[in-house]
Amino acid sequence: MLILGIETSCDETAAAVVKDGFTPLSSIVSSQVDIHHPFGGVVPELASRKHIEAIVPVVHEALENAGVHASQIQGVAATQGPGLVGSLLVGFSFAKAFAYSMDLPWIGVNHLEGHINSVFLEPDPPPFPFVVLLVSGGHTAIYHVTSHTDIELMGQTRDDAAGEAFDKVSKMLGLGYPGGRVVGEMAAKGDPGKVKFKRPYLDKKEYDFSFSGIKTGVNRYIQSMGIADESQIRDIAAGFQEAVVDVLSYKLLHAARQRNCDHTAIVGGVAANTRLRDKVTDEASRIGLEIHIPSPDLCGDNAAMIASVGFHYLKRGILSDLRSDVYSRVKI
Ligand code: KG4
Ligand code: ZN
Repeated sequence: MLILGIETSCDETAAAVVKDGFTPLSSIVSSQVDIHHPFGGVVPELASRKHIEAIVPVVHEALENAGVHASQIQGVAATQGPGLVGSLLVGFSFAKAFAYSMDLPWIGVNHLEGHINSVFLEPDPPPFPFVVLLVSGGHTAIYHVTSHTDIELMGQTRDDAAGEAFDKVSKMLGLGYPGGRVVGEMAAKGDPGKVKFKRPYLDKKEYDFSFSGIKTGVNRYIQSMGIADESQIRDIAAGFQEAVVDVLSYKLLHAARQRNCDHTAIVGGVAANTRLRDKVTDEASRIGLEIHIPSPDLCGDNAAMIASVGFHYLKRGILSDLRSDVYSRVKI
């Protein structure tokens, strides 16, 4: 079954063609970073307008790269939420119109289920059940996954998402937006032992996270010490990254052990972080757990993960209808 996936929840216009839920034939992601960069964050109004410009060319490119004609598509899946409503509406309305005009089944997909299913787009995916850490710009949570669509929330952040903390620290260090990748690059050249930040393990609610304290710690350090040169920026970035990675790694592996899962995974934009990938891989192998992390292209927002989830619903005859609407917030 060939599914066309559409993703426009934030500042990426993405389309993909996925075969039978697991094999991406194409995955096109058109980023709006250059448009939002001068504003230091995503401007919702500009994001919606840019999605409108990009959606048709991006879908064309996805079909062309997959070597598939529009008439061969058998189902459509589009992100329904969570995300920016004005952005979501562009992809969602496009998907409705495409499906209606081609008389195809279609489904609105939860973006978070999309990220979690991104591990199945790689060879050697985890068997069920497994425990997954979702770390993105808007979410940080641990889930116990028993099927593609049966996902239990075990714990989540009480304040900032990990990606959001990376983005805010990037601004404090004068590294601009979006910040995760550049903070990671700076941190790789710094000394994580020079500036230490507290690790909030939150013992009582063991799978919950809190990153606002680390972020405030960075702010306080900068206020009191100032930033003398680039080597200091690198050391602060390294100290911050190490604190975040320690907490993420500890909680994920603890959750996997508690649930007796031999397999665990990390998904979402922050899963592209090299230090997080390396640390969790090392720690997991030390305790005999197998870790699954998608390639960096599939960690960030993409439409292949949306098509993949769509396949599992459409296969079971679960469809959306033309009255369905998008939603800005939703849980699993
Ligand atoms: O999953 P994603 O593309 O979008 C959301 O659903 O939020 O995640 C974006 C987040 C941003 O906060 C970005 O700064 C962060 O992922 N990110 C990273 C890295 N690459 C992206 N954070 C740390 N290290 C990276 N290499
Ligand atoms: Zn995302």
